[in-house]
Amino acid sequence: MTHSYLAPVFTQYPLEVASASGVWLKSARGERVLDLYGGHAVAALGYDHPGFTAALTRQAHACNFQTNAVAMAVRERAAERLVRFAHLPLPSVFLVNSGAEANENALKIALRSSGRDHVAAIEGGFHGRTAAAGAVTFGAQAKWYGFPRTPFDVSFIPRGDAAAVRAQVSERTAAVIVEPVQGLAGAVDLGASFLQALRARCDETGTLLIFDEVQCGVGRTGHPFAANLYGVTPDMLTTAKALGNGFPCAALLMSAAVSASLKPESLGTTFGGGPMACAAIEAVIEAIESEGLLERVRRVGDYIRAQCVVGPVTGHQGAGLLVGLRTSRPAKAIQAELLEGGILAGTASDPHVLRLLPPFILEEEHVDMLRDALADLPA
Ligand SMILES: Cc1ncc(COP(=O)(O)O)c(C=O)c1O
Repeated sequence: MTHSYLAPVFTQYPLEVASASGVWLKSARGERVLDLYGGHAVAALGYDHPGFTAALTRQAHACNFQTNAVAMAVRERAAERLVRFAHLPLPSVFLVNSGAEANENALKIALRSSGRDHVAAIEGGFHGRTAAAGAVTFGAQAKWYGFPRTPFDVSFIPRGDAAAVRAQVSERTAAVIVEPVQGLAGAVDLGASFLQALRARCDETGTLLIFDEVQCGVGRTGHPFAANLYGVTPDMLTTAKALGNGFPCAALLMSAAVSASLKPESLGTTFGGGPMACAAIEAVIEAIESEGLLERVRRVGDYIRAQCVVGPVTGHQGAGLLVGLRTSRPAKAIQAELLEGGILAGTASDPHVLRLLPPFILEEEHVDMLRDALADLPA
């Protein structure tokens, strides 16, 4: 490509995708590439999934768009399906378009309903690139935060540090926002006891606990949400990525008490909850449930961990199919070597973590290909 009209903000892999099916990408040069990156944790059902494609086609024929000012059965169905899938006491859903937008709204609700001016986040966390979501993203101020100041006071709690939780979360704190399994950081599982400590301190101080499950939610851990896996219930939970399998959508699930603090005009969106997005949400949850994908994610996730500590891989972290493979040498080099052999993997902000975010339909035979490729690389 000689000239691109796209803004120069993305570093791209040396790969141009022309089409895709199942867990396989086909490059513009006709080569097959095994996709262990899943469009950054988005392509939960893989590519060209029959049920997903049929659902979107049906909805496009039926009615491709109406705003939230007009009732649509598909919107009600998608919200109910998501609440039932979650198995959490979070019975109310606000549908939006992206992970950052879901977090922006969750933070706004917490700050506005409490009248407080402080939010605590966790070191290593990523929550998006908008004003509030970027403010609670660790390291954003130094790297890319483009606003002259954050819209509220923020402090960052070191991972696993229960004493810092007590010190930093106070009656001034409107919300604590946390990724139960940190994605961009390298699939870092924060663990049940730390999440319980956050829950307990939030209860003591009247602070709302927000789980950002944009990356780790909708089945990626092998459970509907990481909240189910750890048995800790937040007041709000945000999710996106896998939720639409590539159709842009996101959701903010909230407790009845949080929902009761809202009234008409408290929040808004043009595209959020559009019928195409809602058809995508329904189709994704239908496929996860009817194809037994939660069980598959747990099984194949375990298989990756059992098989792939070979070659330059020294250990693993994360949960389900949010896998961090710890590497003896820079993960970027290993990623490039794997791609030369036809396997696409991700990296993380930790330079020694190779991050895998594959479709939930991955099978053991695909893991064998990864294991054999890793075993052939220099340690
Ligand atoms: C945990 C987490 N939160 C929020 C976001 C932002 O989501 P989006 O890019 O859809 O705005 C991301 C994106 O990578 C994420 O991983």
